[in-house]
Amino acid sequence: MEVVFPIFDKMMSREDKESLLGQQGIMIWMTGLSGSGKSTVALGVERELHRRGILCRILDGDNIRAGINSNLGFSAEDRRENIRRIAEIGKLFVDTGIITIACFVSPTAELRRMARGIVGEKDFREVYIATPLEECERRDVKGLYARARRGEVKDFTGISAPFEAPEHPDLRLDTSRMTLEEEVNAVVKLIIEH
Ligand code: ADX
Repeated sequence: MEVVFPIFDKMMSREDKESLLGQQGIMIWMTGLSGSGKSTVALGVERELHRRGILCRILDGDNIRAGINSNLGFSAEDRRENIRRIAEIGKLFVDTGIITIACFVSPTAELRRMARGIVGEKDFREVYIATPLEECERRDVKGLYARARRGEVKDFTGISAPFEAPEHPDLRLDTSRMTLEEEVNAVVKLIIEH
């Protein structure tokens, strides 16, 4: 019988793509409370990488929960599926040689462990945006903390659902104590060292 080789045997390798781009793929996984500043830092990093000629892709709630994950809510089970899909999608970008920045609350150590397992230890860096709850609540950019306090949003992370702070992140940034420029530089350094 004729042996049929699956298509992926013929696909070009990650190394081919990385040498085409002149860079190495990595996943920067940002975790932190809602309103902690994950997306703001990610946008700053994206601009700085772009300026240096480095290709980057941000994955965050706006482009994921509105699209591919629009069927998911905030139960523990849905958050798990949310993070699983994001990690799988992120891995595709990383395997294409792209600097990939994921900005998701990812509130438990178990969820982050799952993401790390899917992406692969060597390509995964955890960045904890450690802005304190009081500061996130004071900013309340989306008005969700006020609504959660009134009981209008259930299972809200930090108020009525847990957030487990990472114990050994690769980088810890408290946006209430650092400037955006310092934060961006710290993340860019982590990427360049890779
Ligand atoms: S995660 O827990 O599954 O990682 P994700 O990062 O995708 O969460 O989405 C969090 C964003 O959704 C928050 O920044 C907030 O704007 C919004 N949100 C709406 N309801 C909730 C909720 N119950 N808990 C947390 N975030 C919520």
